[in-house]
Amino acid sequence: MATLSKRYSIKAKDYLRAGEISIEVQGILKRIGFDAQLIRRVCICAYEAEMNVVMHGGDGTLHLFLDNDAIGLVVKDSGPGIENIALAMQEGYSTASEEAREMGFGAGMGLPNIKKNSDRLKIDSQRGRGTVVAISFEVKGRAGEQE
Ligand SMILES: Nc1ncnc2c1ncn2[C@@H]1O[C@H](COP(=O)(O)OP(=O)(O)OP(=O)(O)O)[C@@H](O)[C@H]1O
Ligand SMILES: [Mg+2]
Repeated sequence: MATLSKRYSIKAKDYLRAGEISIEVQGILKRIGFDAQLIRRVCICAYEAEMNVVMHGGDGTLHLFLDNDAIGLVVKDSGPGIENIALAMQEGYSTASEEAREMGFGAGMGLPNIKKNSDRLKIDSQRGRGTVVAISFEVKGRAGEQE
């Protein structure tokens, strides 16, 4: 049975290293031999969720786990939380800071993109209590053997 579990930490406001985790996740999934299209979807979601922690969250973690029929990402942070999740899910809604917008972020497309590219998305958040974003992907057929 191919199982894997890896946890990475994410630092709030660390724009310099932002995005590195999704590149690592991509490398792991490639080595295992998942379908390229599936890897692309997972990486888009990992990147958007990672960036949201950097931009809006507090420090946090990204947890990648694999089993035979699913790939999961659980991204948690101890930031301010999301007051209105339905609003946050709308395309174009963003509370990104001036600093983030100057770097080209803040289109309000991250969460909608995660929704579009994943098979399941669940957001748990309360104002002042941080955020947990759980994302999963079905794995159809067999992935290559794990190293
Ligand atoms: N981890 C988080 N903590 C607190 N608020 C969040 C978090 N993730 C998302 N949000 C809120 O949801 C809004 C929408 O997020 P989304 O990723 O769709 O857009 P964005 O991050 O603002 O812009 P983009 O992702 O296009 O650069 C954010 O602007 C923010 O208000
Ligand atoms: Mg975003």
